[in-house]
Amino acid sequence: MKLKKQVTVCGGAIFCVAVFSLYLMLDRVQHDPARRQSAGNFPRSQISVLQNRIEQLEQLLEENHQIISHIKDSVLELTDTGAISPSGHLPFRSANGSWVLPFDGRPTFLSVQPLDCQFALGRRSQTDLQMLDVYSLLSFDNVDGGVWKQGFEITYEPNEWDDEPLQVFVVPHSHNDPGWIKTFDKYYNDQTQHIFNNMVVKLAEDPRRKFIWSEISFFAKWWESADVHKQEAMRKLILSGQLEMVTGGWVMTDEASAHYFAMIDQLIEGHQWLEKNLGVTPRSGWAVDPFGYSATMPYLLKRANMSSMLIQRVHYSIKKHFAATRSLEFMWRQTWDIESGTDMFCHMMPFYSYDVPHTCGPDPKICCQFDFKRLPGSRVNCPWKVPPRAITDANVAERAGVLLDQYRKKSKLFRSKVLLVPLGDDFRFDKPLEWDQQYFNYQKLFDYMNSHPEMHVKAQFATLTDYFNAVYKANGVAPGTRPPDYPVLSGDFFAYADREDHYWSGYYTSRPFYKNLDRVLESHLRGAEILYSLAVAHARRAGLEGRYPVSDYSLLTDARRNIGLFQHHDAITGTAKEAVVIDYGNRLLGSLVGLKRVIINAAHFLVIKNKDIYRFYQTEPFLETDDRRATQDSLPQRTLIELESSPRYLVLFNPVEQERLCVVTVLVNSARVRVLTEDGQTLPVQLSAQWVSAIEMSGEVYQASFMARLPALGLAVFHLYDSADSPMTLRSDTLLRIPGQGQSIRGLDPLPVRSQTVDAQPFYIQSQSLTLGFSGTTGLLESIRRKDDPQEVRVQIQFLTYGTRPSKDKSGAYLFLPDGNAKPYSQREAPVVRVVEGPLFAEVVAHYQHFQQTVRIHNVPGVDGLSLDITTMLDIRDQNNKELAMRLVTDIQSGDTFYTDLNGFQVKYTCPQTWSKSSPLLVLDSS
Ligand SMILES: *[C@@H]1O[C@H](CO)[C@@H](O)[C@H](O)[C@H]1NC(C)=O
Ligand SMILES: *[C@@H]1O[C@H](CO)[C@@H](O)[C@H](O)[C@H]1NC(C)=O
Repeated sequence: MKLKKQVTVCGGAIFCVAVFSLYLMLDRVQHDPARRQSAGNFPRSQISVLQNRIEQLEQLLEENHQIISHIKDSVLELTDTGAISPSGHLPFRSANGSWVLPFDGRPTFLSVQPLDCQFALGRRSQTDLQMLDVYSLLSFDNVDGGVWKQGFEITYEPNEWDDEPLQVFVVPHSHNDPGWIKTFDKYYNDQTQHIFNNMVVKLAEDPRRKFIWSEISFFAKWWESADVHKQEAMRKLILSGQLEMVTGGWVMTDEASAHYFAMIDQLIEGHQWLEKNLGVTPRSGWAVDPFGYSATMPYLLKRANMSSMLIQRVHYSIKKHFAATRSLEFMWRQTWDIESGTDMFCHMMPFYSYDVPHTCGPDPKICCQFDFKRLPGSRVNCPWKVPPRAITDANVAERAGVLLDQYRKKSKLFRSKVLLVPLGDDFRFDKPLEWDQQYFNYQKLFDYMNSHPEMHVKAQFATLTDYFNAVYKANGVAPGTRPPDYPVLSGDFFAYADREDHYWSGYYTSRPFYKNLDRVLESHLRGAEILYSLAVAHARRAGLEGRYPVSDYSLLTDARRNIGLFQHHDAITGTAKEAVVIDYGNRLLGSLVGLKRVIINAAHFLVIKNKDIYRFYQTEPFLETDDRRATQDSLPQRTLIELESSPRYLVLFNPVEQERLCVVTVLVNSARVRVLTEDGQTLPVQLSAQWVSAIEMSGEVYQASFMARLPALGLAVFHLYDSADSPMTLRSDTLLRIPGQGQSIRGLDPLPVRSQTVDAQPFYIQSQSLTLGFSGTTGLLESIRRKDDPQEVRVQIQFLTYGTRPSKDKSGAYLFLPDGNAKPYSQREAPVVRVVEGPLFAEVVAHYQHFQQTVRIHNVPGVDGLSLDITTMLDIRDQNNKELAMRLVTDIQSGDTFYTDLNGFQVKYTCPQTWSKSSPLLVLDSS
């Protein structure tokens, strides 16, 4: 149940801007006497700066030799005299109240051009089927279709296959979730390992037997514990084509909540494993269980050199429409790909599920009789009350006839006389008995069919690619190319409904804490991979490979695999059981710690000027991390930097391939903070209070913010001091807007606080680029105005709650089934609202009982100055069956169109009118 436990931090940005993360690390060397001894007068003379660009490593190293001497001199000089560097002017407040910064005038590479946000308006690719048009065609009426409840009656003429026989490809499969009801390891131990152990024996018994496998996470685990004989047997099955690896990702990813970075990463992890251990590359994609399908996936699969793919969980009304128009197989085109070079052949399964009752044909009551695991005496049976019968000489003619009837009906939904019939279910084929039951009984049916020419059918076991190749061959085209007359489609398959109004959109927001943790891990993985590569390349050139912890690579692999595992469609979706969630959480936290270690080790090596004295100490990390998490489900605690009169070093890493100018905030233990750049300039610092509660500030911890210019993919070092003389440190101006009279709030020296009773008047904060208006009553954002734009845009944030239906099905981890329109979130007392303004940033923090929202703007040039950071921290653990929603109400004249994203990879264009028909619940609240 998604609402039981939610504590989260969500970050967001407006104005088509991406927010990247930085890694902050603090030098510990000063507090480590042992290290100080071993490294002589280290670190002051040894810290250097590297603006890392792979191709310039050598040259930069040379430059750094010069820089370091310069730094050393200037640092010493400045510490002695306390002089402000020549370019350092104090920020000042202009007459109109806005802060003016001493900007060095160097341009930033990232700036927002008016046209940058227009890309979505560009020409769209030409297709026969635009999903948005399809929505407007459909009535979503859910009429009873007979035996195929969500479809229609299918008829055929008996002589239709006389000229060209039906080719039936039965594809045995087993759907293994890498975590859901049980953890990944428990599934492996209880079920999955047995599937592989039986597979090597049972497939080898008859070369006509085939199987497909998709989750490399499980396969790799089995392989790594199998003896060489089993490995050899398995390799033989794969090389002979009896066993096919489909998709070949680490998992079968979710496609709605996953970011494309992680979708690609888990695909690479699986593919590299296959390449390295088996020398095979997957040809076909197989995604039977993800809850809706993104257009990002066909693109990624195409780029991974696959030629065909299969999907299953599509809205039942769309399936019905596509079946009726024989459009279940189509070329999937990217909306933006006018050249159509990334088209992907896609097969959409027509019926309700991927289990056997819903794959042989339209009638589940009949198909179930051909799931031979459900033979009488088994633990599973047929809910349609007619059990399977084992195939004997006596009944084979009748049984084959019944099955062929289903095959023929299903075939009528497709354009070729080639038919795909998946045979499997969740965690199937774990017992030897089931292998015998399925393969022997089906082989008898096939043998009978194939030896009776009057049936005009050729049936066999097959892999997925066997099927696709037969389709291409029947159409006379090369694999991956569009057969004549097959439709071209663009769009995606969200939101998914499997029946009635059961829209699977609840999982988009289930367990947001872990969805956030996933993104944190992804940015750390990227950072760690970049820094590790730079450090190793550098160590090799310097001949220091022996001293560098090259073995950190295993931490990277570990993290890739754990992040990959978390992209599974029951992991990042939030639909797994509690114990499984904890298992994922522990894996992610472990990987986060590992990645921070990789980053620290690489940064250590890279910032040392004199590599000769470089030593790696396993137990004594050179740098401290920027934050820590006590447990997998706790929020990060930022590291406090204890200032002294001698410098503490702060190393910042920019994982983006552009130079960045951004505001960095660290926690310090002294209000007398002074920050120097590597070349000795004193930087303006905005000093703000650290708040213990809404109205109580800490007397020991302060926030120090300064503007940092960071090289692309590079590290920068800053020096922080506790200095009686800190001329460039400016205090934030804090105003507390509190409900009711009589509460007197006093700031703690040296940070003054003003307070006032709330009133209904809107109030504003501003930077050099933006002015934000806030509601006096709610303390929430109401308007945005850009500097060069006289027009104020209404962007009103509201918080609302949804209840769930009183009877039958309720909202949960998967479904969103609200009890009606959203109701405004309300609490008896007005919130305490804190307004903090200073030279580098301004922010408004509204404290409500169940959430706290911070809207911050930065007074910097470029993209960072044009974006809003919106952070919402919520805790609704005392609520049951309630959803908290944030709504943005704007006066943007966009008509019916609405843009959102798919996997952070592409823009999705939506139109609420078509939504309201396809998923009434999503827009049930029309306000
Ligand atoms: C305030 O004054 C500064 C400097 O005089 C100017 O650059 C800025 O655009 C002004 N801001 C507003 C909101 O008018
Ligand atoms: C991509 O697949 C084709 C067709 O199977 C194959 O011939 C080609 O070598 C593959 N390309 C790469 C880069 O693996």
